[in-house]
Amino acid sequence: MKIFLGVPVLAFAVYFLASSATPPEAPIGFDNKTNGMVDDATHAVDQDKFDEVEQVSDGLGPLYNAQSCRECHQSPTSGASSQVPELRVGHRGPHGKFENPEIPIAHGTEIIKGRSLVNDRAICPSAAFPATEIQERVPDAENIHTFRVSLSLLGDGFVEAVSDQTFVGLAKEQCDKSHHKICGQVLYVPVVEAPGHTAVGRFGWKDQQASLLSFAADAYLNEMGITSRLQPDEVTNLCNTVTEPNDRPGSDGLSDIDHFARFIRATKAPARDAQLAQTPKARQGLELFTKIGCIECHVETLTTSPANTNINGGTFAIPTALGAMQFHPYGDFLLHDVGTGDGVVQSMTEHYGKRMYSITWKNLSIPAFESTANKIRTAPLWGVRLHSRLMHDGESHTLLDAILRHKGEAEHITEKFEKLKSSEKEALLEFLRSL
Ligand code: HEC
Ligand code: HEC
Repeated sequence: MKIFLGVPVLAFAVYFLASSATPPEAPIGFDNKTNGMVDDATHAVDQDKFDEVEQVSDGLGPLYNAQSCRECHQSPTSGASSQVPELRVGHRGPHGKFENPEIPIAHGTEIIKGRSLVNDRAICPSAAFPATEIQERVPDAENIHTFRVSLSLLGDGFVEAVSDQTFVGLAKEQCDKSHHKICGQVLYVPVVEAPGHTAVGRFGWKDQQASLLSFAADAYLNEMGITSRLQPDEVTNLCNTVTEPNDRPGSDGLSDIDHFARFIRATKAPARDAQLAQTPKARQGLELFTKIGCIECHVETLTTSPANTNINGGTFAIPTALGAMQFHPYGDFLLHDVGTGDGVVQSMTEHYGKRMYSITWKNLSIPAFESTANKIRTAPLWGVRLHSRLMHDGESHTLLDAILRHKGEAEHITEKFEKLKSSEKEALLEFLRSL
């Protein structure tokens, strides 16, 4: 009898203790060491793959932007960000909706369609293909142009491990609290490695991916021209000589995209400037950042789901090192219209591949995708002190410029910022410089 009574009491006590305790902090740092998900030797192997410079004989191109992931994700360490932007273009169709560009290559014998990305480099003309000119150039009719700067990937394993419900709850909470002035959009996107499954998008300036493996395959194809099991179709077959898919499993059974995803998942979150973070000025800055409402979108703390929770359509179980941890991204990973929109709707065929699109499109909301045209994901501010060019297009060159550009959903917050005393503004900026 005693035992039977004792079990629920004990279970309750354990639940109570577990739920009231503050979750442990995610490891931080720029030391190239693992967050504990794998050992350091494995992390170094994965980083070598991420840093590797690919050649035409590895499948690079035919159209591409750079030869390695590190080329754009490098400062201050592999996996972080850089000044490198990518170019996206398009135009509005008859009903005012965004349409992808049509880009003729090879003297107009082929038209590249179904993607907003314009690749800056090509592998031919070359000795092997002296007469084939495939460089993409923007036609005059494509009158929507934007740059998107490279993002940091450090700590993204923690972002991937946050539940969809957390983001849904956050969007509702901020909308209620602000009386519908600030209402982030949650966008469900395909999980490319789990055909038919969707999850809440959280990666990329437009929340175009939910899974780091999906993003790795997307980037390998669209930034480097390398096909994989998840993105098996080349953008063009002109000048192409390497067997498909270009990325095939090595002796350890893993393809490059698997190494990239594991590398990103095992990175530590960006560390704050420890010295600056302690100053009274930066502390006052955080108070003001909170008080005037920057924090509604630049959310301070998120917590990951417990270890062993299955995510990404059931294809990935959250490892112990990433489970039930708190981290401080200063972002909500939701889409907002802050008046900086670029008018581009992400292309399903580009990001998810033609084959995946044909399976999963039925589970997606096309109107939800279209409504993102002028929205951008809240830029997470962790590590912002290490970026020289700010906002999605890199067009803001000081923190103050970036703040003053916030209109739309953030207009009333920007007004509050402008009303601060100059010493208070300086404190808020000092706080940002400590992130
Ligand atoms: C030519 C530069 C370039 C190269 C090469 C590149 N990336 Fe990126 N990466 C970017 C840019 C730009 C973005 C933001 C793209 C967007 O949202 O439109 C980005 C975003 C990402 C993100 C989303 C991060 C976040 O927190 O939202 C991931 C993950 C990523 N890249 C992984 C990779 C991997 C893996 C490789 C190598 C296969 C790679 N990238 C190669 C430029 C590059
Ligand atoms: C309604 C949501 C919202 C509010 C409120 C908000 N922001 Fe932002 N913030 C964003 C979005 C969205 C972006 C990205 C915009 C873009 O790239 O075009 C951004 C970008 C930034 C950036 C640029 C970061 C980078 O890496 O490029 C800074 C700095 C910033 N915000 C600071 C602030 C400060 C300070 C406040 C308060 C005065 C504030 N924000 C209020 C949504 C918001």
